[in-house]
Amino acid sequence: MKERSITEEEAKEAYEKGLKEAKELLKDPDKLEVFLQKLEKKLKVIPYVGESFSIVPAMISLVRSYIKKEYTEIPLGAVAGIISALIYIFSPVDLIPDLIPGVGYLDDASVLLICLKAGAKDDIKDYQKWREKNKKSIYKKVLVSYFSASGVTKRKAEHIAKEVEGDLYEIKPKEIYTDDDLNWHNSESRSSIEIKDETCRPAIKDIDIDIDNYDTIYVGFPIWWGIAPNVVKTFLDKIDLSNKKIIAFCTSGGSPLAPAIEDLKKTYPHANIN
Ligand SMILES: Cc1cc2nc3c(=O)[nH]c(=O)nc-3n(C[C@H](O)[C@H](O)[C@H](O)COP(=O)(O)O)c2cc1C
Repeated sequence: MKERSITEEEAKEAYEKGLKEAKELLKDPDKLEVFLQKLEKKLKVIPYVGESFSIVPAMISLVRSYIKKEYTEIPLGAVAGIISALIYIFSPVDLIPDLIPGVGYLDDASVLLICLKAGAKDDIKDYQKWREKNKKSIYKKVLVSYFSASGVTKRKAEHIAKEVEGDLYEIKPKEIYTDDDLNWHNSESRSSIEIKDETCRPAIKDIDIDIDNYDTIYVGFPIWWGIAPNVVKTFLDKIDLSNKKIIAFCTSGGSPLAPAIEDLKKTYPHANIN
């Protein structure tokens, strides 16, 4: 396999050019997030090699923490420098398949070295220490959460978690649903009473994972009377939905998912529910 490399001059030029773009991106967090996601996707398709590249996930994570305002111990100019290096990494990856057919990986550390020379190395190290101290992984993770009363949704959730390489999390009601509770023929059963009151939030067991570590959260449930069981909303009430992508999935006896999603969107109008 061939490697692609550029001169230090070219890298410096690209870095300077990227700084302007980076400053523009910093003014528009949504656009910046789209860029980071595209970069992550590209890096998955074309793996990169070389020691300096091992720092890239930390750079991406730092930028995210900065725009979320959870980590601000770094000057704006330094963040722009890091974004500029990421923009550069993104571009050649973008060009590689056309430029050099058969290239299977990217090993071009020049621009990273320039960025690191500009002081970013210490900033990234400080950031990694901060993450470790706060027990936060630098890797963007996917959570597959689910509620399942009789096991069908649980099996689907396990399958999805395997497919998307996500962590599984079961939403556990404090009081488990008995067969009598689930009897939809009885209008006085627990599930019938709960669903009639849209403010009802049955208690759930403590959430023992750090939701902050996840950017994409799958939420699975059985359809009850056309929508998600209230206990799913207890879970959603308890977590910070801002900056998260929520992907709903369900199992049912035939009812579709769409009305359940509409109901969730109505309940959480500011959340990004898909
Ligand atoms: C209280 C209750 C209400 C239900 N309402 C519906 C419904 O409106 N439409 C439907 O297709 N299935 C309905 N079902 C069937 C479940 O959605 C289906 O069996 C589901 O796969 C069960 O998932 P679980 O094993 O993860 O609990 C209902 C089930 C229960 C217990």
